[in-house]
Parts: sequence; structure tokens; C-alpha cells
Amino acid sequence: MILYKTDEQVEMMRKSALLVSQTLTDVAGFLKPGINTLSIDQRVGEYIRDHQAVPSFLNYNGYPFNSCISVNDVVVHGFPNKRELKEGDIISVDIGVILDGWHGDHAYTFAIGDPGDAVMQLIRVTKESLYKGIEKAIAGNRVGDIGFAIQEHTEKKHGYGVVRELVGHGLGKDLHEDPQVPNYGKRGSGAKLKEGMVLAIEPMINLGKKEVYTEDDGWTVRTRDGKPSVHFEHDVCIRKNKADVLSDYRPIEAAEQANAYLFTAKAPVLQ
Ligand code: MF3
Ligand code: CO
Repeated sequence: MILYKTDEQVEMMRKSALLVSQTLTDVAGFLKPGINTLSIDQRVGEYIRDHQAVPSFLNYNGYPFNSCISVNDVVVHGFPNKRELKEGDIISVDIGVILDGWHGDHAYTFAIGDPGDAVMQLIRVTKESLYKGIEKAIAGNRVGDIGFAIQEHTEKKHGYGVVRELVGHGLGKDLHEDPQVPNYGKRGSGAKLKEGMVLAIEPMINLGKKEVYTEDDGWTVRTRDGKPSVHFEHDVCIRKNKADVLSDYRPIEAAEQANAYLFTAKAPVLQ
């Protein structure tokens, strides 16, 4: 059942989404080679609790950490661990909070040093595909229009693998609400988008083939071919002509630009 949010509820959800953006901004300032991902996760947990919220992933279906940190060929749901980040790694940080009863859930992929042109392009195109999906996330369209736009830009145009097993979702008082929002699909198919729907749109795009597997820990999803995967996620509210994006990449991007250890999609290609 799809739950539509009132304007007041959307404003509460904006606060939740922006707390995730702030937390990701804090992470963007902290990332560098030599730190381990467990230290990022601890910092994420402290940041969220310091802001009167709780990390929503912790204990969700038994998930044992504050955040999901997925490095290189890990697609999503990576466990933070003691392994040190090194130059050339890419790291997707996915964070959820509950603030005053409402969920925020979004994600960003960073490059620690230069992962090479092919991977930088994957990062850029995956982020672009998120915005192409958001452009279609307007009242009167259907869920399939979002997935179609993402798939066109990533799979059709660039030959990347679009993960089929994991999808975006409705968001509200629960982390996962209806409808599911696949990153692939047919134009004009699926549930009709209506004002007040809040969706987490989250392309998970592989440099190589689309196939993935889940490790024995029951969570960590990796690409079958071992090639890197990128994940970006925004929380959006459906409106008439343009979606209202509740989360905000601008402060994250500013912190990313300011952190000399991070390679950004806009950075010039070095010979
Ligand atoms: N962004 C992911 C999702 O929407 C994060 C869930 S991780 C979990 O599914 F640990 F909470 F399951
Ligand atoms: Co999500």
C-alpha cells in the first residue's frame, strides 16, 4: 500500500533527508587513504546521535552497523571493517536516520585518489542517471518511467550493468514502503506517481556485467565479475511538474571538492 505524505509530513522528511546529507558531508571531509571503514561507521553513528536521531540501518533485519560502506566491487550493504582505504578505491556510503519518527535514506560514492578514467566515468554517469530518473519522477508518470530513464542512460548508452536484484523504494515512517522503484523498466508501466509520494531512487550500476551475488554474511552484495560498482541515492517527493528533492548533494559536493584526497568527477584528467 502506497502511503501519501501531507505537506507537513514532507517537511519532517526533508529534515531527516538533510540530516543524512549533513552526515555524508561530515564523512566527505573525513575520508582519506589509510583510514578504515569501521572508523567511518563509528563517526556516522556519533554524528547521527548527536543530532537527536538514530541510525535506521542498525538492527534493521539484523543489520549490524550504523551505515553500509561498499568499496570497489561491493555493490551495496557492505559491512564496515578494519581494511584500510587506499588510493584508487571507490567507496559508496549509504546512511539512514530516523528523526522524529521519519526516515531519511541516501547515498553517495566517493573516489579516494584516482581510480582511473573508466571508473570516474562510471561515477559521473551513475550520478547523471539518478537525475535523469528524478526528471521523470513527476505526478502523472509511472514508476517504470523512472527505471526506463536510468536504464537508457547507463545500460543502453554506456553499456554498464544495471543491477536487477536491488531496487529503490517508498520511504516514510518505514525504511522500505511501497512502491518498489527498479532502476530498469518499461516506459508507462507500473504504479502511477502521485503528489505526496516520497521515493528513495537509487541506481546501482556496474562497470561490467549486471550479475551480483550475496556473500555468506547474508548482506554484502558483490559484482560477479569483480568489477567496480557505483551507488547514488536521493529522497524525492513527487510533485506536479518537478520532483522536490529532499536530500541535498551540494554540501557533500563542496566537502568533496575541498578534500584533496578525493577525486571528483569534474577534476581534469591527469596524464
Ligand atoms: N539504502 C539501502 C536501502 O534502501 C539501505 C538499506 S541497508 C539496511 O535498502 F541495512 F538497512 F538494510
Ligand atoms: Co534506500
